[in-house]
Parts: sequence; structure tokens; C-alpha cells
Amino acid sequence: MDRRTPATGSNLHPVTASAAQPAPVLQQPEALGQFDYVNTTVVPLRAEHLERHRIVAYNKNSNMSWAFDLLRTQVLQTMEENGWRTLAITSPTPEAGKTVLAINLAMSIAHHTTKTALLVDFDLRRPRVGSSLGLPMGKALNEYLNNQAGLEEVLVNPTLPRFVVLPTREPVPLSTEVLSSPKVNNLIHDLRERYESRICIFDLPPLLSSDDAITVLPKFDCVLLVVANGNNSKKEIEDCLYHLATANLIGAVLNKAEAQTRSYY
Ligand SMILES: Nc1ncnc2c1ncn2[C@@H]1O[C@H](COP(=O)(O)OP(=O)(O)OP(=O)(O)O)[C@@H](O)[C@H]1O
Ligand SMILES: [Mg+2]
Repeated sequence: MDRRTPATGSNLHPVTASAAQPAPVLQQPEALGQFDYVNTTVVPLRAEHLERHRIVAYNKNSNMSWAFDLLRTQVLQTMEENGWRTLAITSPTPEAGKTVLAINLAMSIAHHTTKTALLVDFDLRRPRVGSSLGLPMGKALNEYLNNQAGLEEVLVNPTLPRFVVLPTREPVPLSTEVLSSPKVNNLIHDLRERYESRICIFDLPPLLSSDDAITVLPKFDCVLLVVANGNNSKKEIEDCLYHLATANLIGAVLNKAEAQTRSYY
């Protein structure tokens, strides 16, 4: 495949996400009445910080987040049909836009459904979820993995109702070993089982850059592949599909594509 040809494997369902311009004003957070994590730290979000990091779905009424809302509908439909509750997000190589997409998708789920969206930073080599959201991260997944904090101490609610984040503050040494450990196994199991009306999204590292994603993938119900437009060769896409052969591949997002004009008609 030409390096500029987008991935359209026969069993993939491309959804195009463009770099939408974010809305200028952070909405007033809704009352946290429905929030069920009473012990979770609540931290405010800053609109200006989110905008710089291409986070647009924080604004429930933004007309910029339509691509994520469309993706949310498609992903949730398939997950619900199959009883899946954990979704891994990966890409062939770095910089596909996984973290931006994972955050926007989780926010879209929290805003527009009755489900809680829990976003976990499982990119233990290049963790970026917390910094993209501008979270303080006193205690994070790092402390949980080192047995220095309990789960309730490291979960954060960034003011949006039904949106919970488990951030990773800094790279975790020996990440492949950590991801294959019983501790991580139990963590994924606990997060999945604790509440039935919860969707857990895991931001993973790229599939072809290390063994991390391949190691942990079998532990998730399904996988979403993010491919940046023109960034990957046919061989890279084929290698990914080989690694995903036994996974439930829910679809692929063709990211960083040309922005499409949308009008009422
Ligand atoms: N749809 C998009 N259009 C244009 N740029 C984007 C888009 N999504 C993300 N980016 C930009 O691409 C860069 C990489 O994004 P991001 O960190 O989300 O990718 P990633 O796949 O998580 O990278 P890594 O493999 O390093 O974890 C960032 O500068 C981000 O702002
Ligand atoms: Mg990332």
C-alpha cells in the first residue's frame, strides 16, 4: 500500500475524525448528583488547556465534537450488543492521535449516555492522559502499581458527571512485565466488574513499537485501532491485523484526515 493510502481493510469500518477547532468557553459543570464515586478526587478542567490539546468533547453542546459523537454511537452499539465493557485503543505506530481520541470518546460517553466512562492511561511508556487534561496527579497509577495507594485514591473526576480518569503520572519501568502482572490483571477485572453501567477505555501504546500493547490486549473485551492518515505502510497495517487476529476488533478510525464540511443538508 502506498504510504499515503488510508487503511481500509475489509473487516474494518473506518470513521473519519478531523481536527475540529475547539469551542472557546468551558461549560458550567453539571451538578455531580449522579456521580457514584463519592471518594474520588474532583478536579476542575480549564477550557484553554483542553483546547490546546484538541479536547473538544468537554463541551456538551459543542458542534465541533460530532465526529466523536458518531464514533461513540457506533462503538457503544457494538459493545452493548456483545456485552463488552472494556475497550482498548491502540495504533500501529506513535502519534496517531490515540490519547486525544480516547479522552474525547470518554467525555462523549459520559455526556450523552447514562453510562460512566472510566478512562485509564495504560501507555506506561508515554503517559499523556493526565497532562492532556491538565490534571494535578498527586497520586496516580504509578503509586497504585507500587502498592503506595489504593484504587480510590488514584481515581479522579474532572468535574464532568460520569467521567472518571485513572491517570499515569510518569513512565513505569519494566512496563511489559508490569502489564502482564497479576496486579494489572486484577485491576482490569475490578474496574470492569465493579459497576455494570460503566465503560472502561484504556489508552494503550502503539502495537508495533514495543511488546506492551500485544501483551495486554487479550485482557480487554474489544479493541479500536486508530490509524493516522498516510502514516502507515500496508505492511504495518497487515502486521497490526496479524496481532489483532484473536482480538475483537470493533473498528478502525482514520484519524487526521482532511476536515469535512458539514451543513444541515
Ligand atoms: N485528529 C487530529 N488531527 C490533527 N492532529 C491531531 C489529531 N488528533 C491528535 N492530533 C495531534 O497529534 C499529536 C499526537 O496526538 P496523541 O498524543 O493523541 O497521539 P498518540 O497516538 O496518543 O501518540 P503516542 O503514540 O505518542 O501515545 C498531538 O500533537 C495531537 O494534538
Ligand atoms: Mg498517547
